[in-house]
Amino acid sequence: MSQMILPSDKRWRRYRTKSGICINGKCETVLEKYVYENYKGKIQLVFTSPPFPLNRAKKYGNLAGEEYKEWLYSVGNQLKKLLTPTGSIVIEIGNAWNSGEPTFSTLPMETLLEFKNKCGLYLCQEFIYYNPARLPGPIEWVNKKRIRVKDSFTRIWWLSTTPYPYANNKNVLEEYSKQMIKLLGTGKYNAGKRPSEHNISDKSFCINNGGAIPSNVIIAPNTESKGRYLEECKKRGLPIHPARMPHQIPEYFIKMLTKTQDIVLDCFAGSNTTGYCAEKLERHWISIEVDKDYYQGSKYRF
Ligand SMILES: C[S@@+](CC[C@H](N)C(=O)[O-])C[C@H]1O[C@@H](n2cnc3c(N)ncnc32)[C@H](O)[C@@H]1O
Repeated sequence: MSQMILPSDKRWRRYRTKSGICINGKCETVLEKYVYENYKGKIQLVFTSPPFPLNRAKKYGNLAGEEYKEWLYSVGNQLKKLLTPTGSIVIEIGNAWNSGEPTFSTLPMETLLEFKNKCGLYLCQEFIYYNPARLPGPIEWVNKKRIRVKDSFTRIWWLSTTPYPYANNKNVLEEYSKQMIKLLGTGKYNAGKRPSEHNISDKSFCINNGGAIPSNVIIAPNTESKGRYLEECKKRGLPIHPARMPHQIPEYFIKMLTKTQDIVLDCFAGSNTTGYCAEKLERHWISIEVDKDYYQGSKYRF
């Protein structure tokens, strides 16, 4: 495929790279008027992290409670129509606490469940994104009163319209531990039956497969403190996106769930981490971000 098609609606700001396009607009409209018209049935992966759900009154235009769930579910129905028959939707929803008390909101979990059920999707697997560098919070309960501990993981759901979307875990293998490398060298794996009923044989377990199969817990400290994006935003007085994702997360799913030249979509792009990772991995990409300043800043990733 060559460069991505430009939207016919000239009102939307956009920038294009070798493999992708980023559009400054509301995703509901851009999905309908641009993505659906040009790429219906062609998106292999939607990787996205929507704005956080709020339990209190509306702030910064975010929706709250039931309204949030309804809104996200309607976006989900738009996304579903764009997927290839083997495509996936990977969605991360940030955590929330109930306002004024030390209780955890179930809204992100309810939203995920409703998103899955109402959009008629299969949950292929749940992932945990663990950020060991997350600052302690909420301050009132964790740092001041010391009655809660720090909240350092979020849920990522991998969903699809089929139980068998395209996936290949060989593309995300991890380095073997030193112990495993030693063991592979010996050719012996302490063969026999395990308490788990797994019957371990030297033949199948002592093969070097090029790496270990990763688990569904992705550990990624969010500690980016330098780089072109940050430098350029500072230089130009543009706000640095406060909820940037570490590159490891989109990279992991792009590698596992797509092939070179496939199209990856992020409809809540923020600083466009997804587009950046897709470009590096030689996938095509479409990103949509409603905030003009975040959109502007994201250009400097490229
Ligand atoms: C959690 S952030 C995404 C951060 C992103 N993953 C990154 O690494 O920078 C969610 C983004 O969705 C954007 N957003 C909220 N409502 C939107 C809408 N209706 N259409 C497009 N973008 C929207 C917000 O401005 C925000 O930048």
